Amino acid sequence: MKIDPAEKPLNGELEVPGDKSISHRAVMFGSIASGDTEITHFLPGADCLSTISCFREMGIDIETSDADPGHVIVHGKGLHGLSAPDAVLDCGNSGTTMRLVSGILTGQDFSTELTGDDSIRKRPMKRIIDPLTAMGASIRSRSGNGCAPLEIDGRPLRGIAYETPVASAQVKSCILLAGLYADGPTTVTEPSLSRNHTELMLKNFGADLTAEGTSVTVRPDPKLEGTKIKVPGDISSAACFIAGASVIPGSHVILRNTGTNPTRDGILRVLQDMGGTVMYRNLNTSGGESTADLEIWHMPLHGTVIEGDLIPTLIDELPLIAVMACAAEGETIIRDAAELKVKESNRIDLMVRGLSAMGADITGTDDGMIIRGGRKLHGATIDTAKDHRAAMAFTVAALAADGPSEIRDADCVRISYPGFYDDLASLMK
Ligand code: S3P
Repeated sequence: MKIDPAEKPLNGELEVPGDKSISHRAVMFGSIASGDTEITHFLPGADCLSTISCFREMGIDIETSDADPGHVIVHGKGLHGLSAPDAVLDCGNSGTTMRLVSGILTGQDFSTELTGDDSIRKRPMKRIIDPLTAMGASIRSRSGNGCAPLEIDGRPLRGIAYETPVASAQVKSCILLAGLYADGPTTVTEPSLSRNHTELMLKNFGADLTAEGTSVTVRPDPKLEGTKIKVPGDISSAACFIAGASVIPGSHVILRNTGTNPTRDGILRVLQDMGGTVMYRNLNTSGGESTADLEIWHMPLHGTVIEGDLIPTLIDELPLIAVMACAAEGETIIRDAAELKVKESNRIDLMVRGLSAMGADITGTDDGMIIRGGRKLHGATIDTAKDHRAAMAFTVAALAADGPSEIRDADCVRISYPGFYDDLASLMK
């Protein structure tokens, strides 16, 4: 897709689509609860559609409609209501689908196989295979390289206490979901707190779960009951316009009903550390998830250091933050973010390559990036490796450049934000 430099500031207001992490979980937990779960503002992105198709394969009736793709009704069949799928489960590009569904499948009384696209078949699954195996699960990487396809033979599980080496909500959630099928309590302790949507939502479905600090314990065999879930706007999608407004002078945007869960709001904290401002209006909470209308103005930014416990709260926004850092005066250091190397692509290499091609002064490190900002970017042809977050970040960078850019495979934005280019255009009228 060709992106020209922005001729006008970003201006206006919109509500971004529903949160991807929360949309996945609403379908998963609704499927293993008894009765109906009605989801509104669901994200009809390709990743969440992969989750819907996996549960349909396992006998769950999930109503969707083209007329209102954000409205989904899951007719749950209870904790033990899934049935063996006829085919291999296809998780597409979605790490959340593969890792969380694996946790559920290890406790069933049938066997399954999970696979997905080229990207997901390269991503590390040993991080879930190890703890699930410690619970007594039978889960194998078919090619023996610690990656998908995964073969799972459901069987009785035992509760464990597990310390995860990485702060990963996918790993934490996988173990907690397996814990629902175990013979005793299961505790997961993380090095830093990752997004806590599983904890909040499972509790609302009726799970017996306690969270304290970076530890969470779930007790087995709860009675999960269907519920109503209103999905907040995805802060990871809103981040495109937060970054856009930060790098395009004169911009002013309002992002209605955006999720502001403190385990996800790191980009707002970084924006303020860099000299930007954000106003929170219409604060609300639904199902334990906080939301607000976020009002952002363009402000000149300066460099900062992003590290430690902050990293899990903005891990998916780091490509956009790298773009903001290119526009900021001075040096920005991102460290403790080695996880970026095992996302949909190696996001350190990819962002360094793409932003360097646009003239940025950026160096990749083993666990992050160092960016010396303040240089005007120029247009370039950019490889996105079909990584949705990188495609959106490079699009924002291209808007701030001084000549046209070509963003390759830009349609990969359909993974998390199918209407991204339309929404962007609506702010540039
Ligand atoms: C997600 C957790 C994060 C995030 C991903 C979605 C989730 O991954 O990067 O986009 O829904 O739990 P990790 O858990 O691997 O950090």
